[in-house]
This record gives sequence, structure tokens and C-alpha cells, in this order.
Amino acid sequence: MNAQHQIEQLKKFKYDITRFMMIYKFALDEIETKVEILKEEFQSLHDYSPIENTTSRLKSPESIVNKMLRKNYELSFDGIKSNIKDIAGLRITCSFISDIYQVSEMLQNQADLKILEVKDYIKNPKPNGYKSLHLLVEVPVFLSDSEEHVCVEVQIRTIAMDFWASLEHKIFYKYNESVPDRLIQELKNAADSANALDLQMERLHHEIQEIKDAQSDASDEELRRIMINNQQFTVPMEFLKLLKDGQ
Ligand code: GTP
Ligand code: MG
Repeated sequence: MNAQHQIEQLKKFKYDITRFMMIYKFALDEIETKVEILKEEFQSLHDYSPIENTTSRLKSPESIVNKMLRKNYELSFDGIKSNIKDIAGLRITCSFISDIYQVSEMLQNQADLKILEVKDYIKNPKPNGYKSLHLLVEVPVFLSDSEEHVCVEVQIRTIAMDFWASLEHKIFYKYNESVPDRLIQELKNAADSANALDLQMERLHHEIQEIKDAQSDASDEELRRIMINNQQFTVPMEFLKLLKDGQ
């Protein structure tokens, strides 16, 4: 193989790997937009959103290769696509446990998303105390010359579950995956405390919601004001008159 040929091959490989990774980035963009739309819809129409925050990440080529080698899979683009399901990852945090299931339902009901798998580590926590709802979702991505179906791992959890998982992750790596027993027990206790907090916050949330529903004391002025796209609009009186005339 001459040098020129080798360079051409490397260029081709760079092109292929960039295209491969970009498709996962686009899938993340698609699903992040979906989640943003839900968040804004709720915020605008209900003054409350079940979605607190979202973060996304792409697995690095290095971690992809390490995972393929660890699992003894043969390295190829097709092999990676069918075996590594968390190249694109989206994490959604919610305030309350019930919000997690609401968000999950809303995503599952979207016609262009295909749900490949649901793992409910809230109903069935991992032995270490890990809790989250995991969805494997297939997202369609339209490129100039093809339509790709791309897998995205969506993790939905409360703020307390997320707090616990980040700390556990740090400890797990700090101790190179062999965490001392005492810390394992403490982490398990912390997971129980996080869960108790989640349950308490959920009860308070329901109580406040009931009080809110019972009182509707908004003035006509307030009812005429709407916010869309960070712009404030005032509904014209003529519009309101139409409503009052029963049209
Ligand atoms: P891989 O772990 O990716 O091989 O897949 P799996 O089939 O074991 O999937 P699982 O749903 O168990 O975990 C996928 C992801 O969830 C991980 O990459 C983590 O981000 C998260 N996760 C799962 N278990 C734990 C845990 O015990 N602690 C923390 N901090 N995160 C976890
Ligand atoms: Mg795992």
C-alpha cells in the first residue's frame, strides 16, 4: 500500500466516523427539541412543567471502542450500531416521581418515536439503590440522501435520584469499581433518604396543587395577558367580547 493510498483511506475513515457520530448528534437534537416543546407547552398552558432540566451527551469514540472490546464484539460500524445503545444519551430531570411517568407516557405516545425498551429502575431499583426510568427510543433522522433510525437512551429521574446517581458514579470510579462495604451501605442509606424525600415532596406538591385548583382569583387584566416565545401579548377586548357573546 503506498502512502497516497493510505492517506486516502484515512480521509475516507474520518469521513465515515464523522458521519456516523453526527447521526447520533442529530437524533439527540430531534429528541431534545421534542422535550423542549413539551416543557414549553406545559409551562405556558399549565404554569407548571413536569420537566425540570435536560442534559445530553455523546459517547466518545474511545468509550465506544472500549465497550466493544470489553464485550468482545467485533469492531465495525454495523456492530457498534446494533450493540451499543447509549451512544446518544438524554437525561431528563423532574421534580416529582409522578412527573417521570407523565413524561415517559408523552414520549411513548409520539407517533414518530419507536420505543425499543423500557427499564423501570424506580419500581425495581438496582441492589445499590440506583433509581431511574430508562427508555431506549428509536428516532428518525432525515439526511440529504437517506433516512436513518437512531437509538437514543433516555434516562428520566427526579432531582434527588440524579443527585444520588452522580455521587455514586464518582465514588464508583474513584474506587476503581471496588467500593468498600461501608461506603456501599452508606450509599444505600442515602438512596433510601433520597426516596423518602421524593415521597414527601410529592405529597406536598399534591396538597399545594389542590389549594391552587380551589382558588381562581385571577383578574380580567391577568387573564388577558399571554406569553409566547418570551413575548407578552394582550388579548384585545374585542376578542373577549366575542367569547362573552357566546361565539
Ligand atoms: P450498559 O451499562 O450501558 O452496558 O447497559 P445496561 O444494559 O447495563 O443498561 P442500564 O440500563 O443498566 O444502564 C445504562 C446507564 O444507566 C448507565 O450507563 C448509567 O448512566 C446508568 N446507570 C445504570 N446503573 C447505574 C448505577 O448503579 N449507578 C449510576 N450512577 N448510574 C447507573
Ligand atoms: Mg449498566
